[in-house]
Amino acid sequence: MTDSYSTPDIRRVTADPMGIARAADALSSGRLVAFPTETVYGLGADAGNDDAVARIFEAKGRPHFNPLIVHVAGISSARDLVHFDRRAEILADRFWPGPLTLVLRRKSNASLSLLVSAGLDTAAIRLPQHAAARSIIEAAGSPVAAPSANRSGLISPTTADHVCEAWSVESELGPEVIVDDGPCKIGLESTVIDLSETAPTLLRPGGIALEELEAGLGEGIRTSEIIDAPKSPGMLARHYAPKTPLVMNAKTAGPNGLLLGFGPKTRNADLNLSPSGSLREAAANLFAMLHKLDRRGMAEIAVTTIPDTGLGRAINDRLHRAAAE
Ligand code: TXA
Ligand code: MG
Repeated sequence: MTDSYSTPDIRRVTADPMGIARAADALSSGRLVAFPTETVYGLGADAGNDDAVARIFEAKGRPHFNPLIVHVAGISSARDLVHFDRRAEILADRFWPGPLTLVLRRKSNASLSLLVSAGLDTAAIRLPQHAAARSIIEAAGSPVAAPSANRSGLISPTTADHVCEAWSVESELGPEVIVDDGPCKIGLESTVIDLSETAPTLLRPGGIALEELEAGLGEGIRTSEIIDAPKSPGMLARHYAPKTPLVMNAKTAGPNGLLLGFGPKTRNADLNLSPSGSLREAAANLFAMLHKLDRRGMAEIAVTTIPDTGLGRAINDRLHRAAAE
């Protein structure tokens, strides 16, 4: 709780040119920034920086790597990142800027962390309406990945006070800068529509009603696989899984296998998620390294033991699924 006697939060800035510049600087140096949008406050990181994106998962304490929404300041930036098809153009023309997120196939040359997509070949893109949000993204000069700025499992913040309460000043996790621009107008996350398959599909109901979107698009939108079930965040149906069989808690690789190591003690690893034993570095490297080893088409990918704490839980969750698939 904040009251008039408490010391002012040093991270908190207003959405004036100085505050925007501080937020943009923090983003450019790979730090986290909490910023307002018309839906909820977001916890943002440079979407092209693996380490910065890994910080989001670390700060939120998410036990899974759910893919994150990438926020852009203009439609041309969206067209650079993903294959922006006819349907995307229609919906963007009608509903952007605003609380609508479009899931589309990533362009192969997109400068986007694989972690924002949780390893999938799609990315969720949103052009927010909020003026401060757009100024920050523009000033940072690159797209901003941002989930809601709450800790995992707690309620989404719609004021800067909510954000300050979620992360104490002393914690080294959490945002370096919190941009305060009053309460969010909509207070409910954006609607997420998947346009990457043949039929458009609603993945999460939100700030724009389905009927409105269908009328704008001129066709029906499927509602069969709503994946953002808050009670089971691991429900996300589609996940990147390597084609190569994966084995966990390995000491060595089997015949014709490849070893993915972690930490200074792993010797003879084909790749090491983090030679220094940093879970954040490991999270940042995970999907890129799995892709790389998978492409070699060997008999198995053996992964050494990853500590099951902090970000290690999300890494192990992902590896478990990959091992089971
Ligand atoms: O209003 C909002 O959308 C807020 C503000 C900050 O913009 N952001 C937000 O982000 O709610 P996040 O990361 O908490 O929500 C992401 C949603 C999840 O339901 C996730 O599963 C889905 O979008 N999503 C993201 N990328 C996806 C992808 N490539 N494929 C399928 N679903 C994706
Ligand atoms: Mg959320």
